[in-house]
Amino acid sequence: MSLPNIVAIDGPAGSGKSTISYRLAERYDYLFVDTGIFYRTLTLVALRHGVSLDDELALAELAEATTIDIIPAPMDSHHKSHVFANKQNVTDYIRTSEVEAAVSTVSAIPGVRRALLEKQRSVAKKGMVIMAGRDIGTVVLPNADVKLYVDASLEERAQRRYNQCIERGEDVNYEEIRAALARRDKIDTERTVSPLKIPDDAIYILTDGMTIEETVDEIGQRLEMWQPA
Ligand code: DC
Repeated sequence: MSLPNIVAIDGPAGSGKSTISYRLAERYDYLFVDTGIFYRTLTLVALRHGVSLDDELALAELAEATTIDIIPAPMDSHHKSHVFANKQNVTDYIRTSEVEAAVSTVSAIPGVRRALLEKQRSVAKKGMVIMAGRDIGTVVLPNADVKLYVDASLEERAQRRYNQCIERGEDVNYEEIRAALARRDKIDTERTVSPLKIPDDAIYILTDGMTIEETVDEIGQRLEMWQPA
């Protein structure tokens, strides 16, 4: 079996693409790179430095100047990867509601995207990579061997998020979760630079009603069937 060297997986917030990519990476021994982490880490650093979210130039400069390292987490960690901003471990802080609320705004800034694009491409150079995000098949790795677009309806994604929060014992409201996802979808799909869209040559997978395992199996079959051009 010859597996594709570079796999690009795009999709909206809450589609499950990170979990799916992580499981595929484990099964087939790929390096998994979740590019949302780059945008989340930069957003965290900006919030910590008190940089205004309106100051595009300052945010772009911060993106250039910030060193972001992502390493696979050890087996006993409950994280998929450990994240370092300027050598400081920020793994526990990139998924807070403050970061969640600001990250779409920060990631819509052209100078920020330019700076983070190079960092993402350089990680993919090592090969045997599954990279997940919003613009991987369209912009970051347009020559990927396999491109996938993992989708789910807004209602399904909101319900999954809601269930996860309830399982963690958090006090949440379904309508608020749905509205926050809709807001992120709008910013991610309507921004002028690298908006979220389905790459022309992508395999489209709608995961409504599918479990993570079913989705991983379906994509796994596609990877195993892949033939070099
Ligand atoms: O996948 P995620 O929820 O961790 O991504 C967080 C934000 O980062 C998302 O709202 C949009 C942005 N993002 C992006 O613009 N491009 C990517 N390739 C990955 C994420």
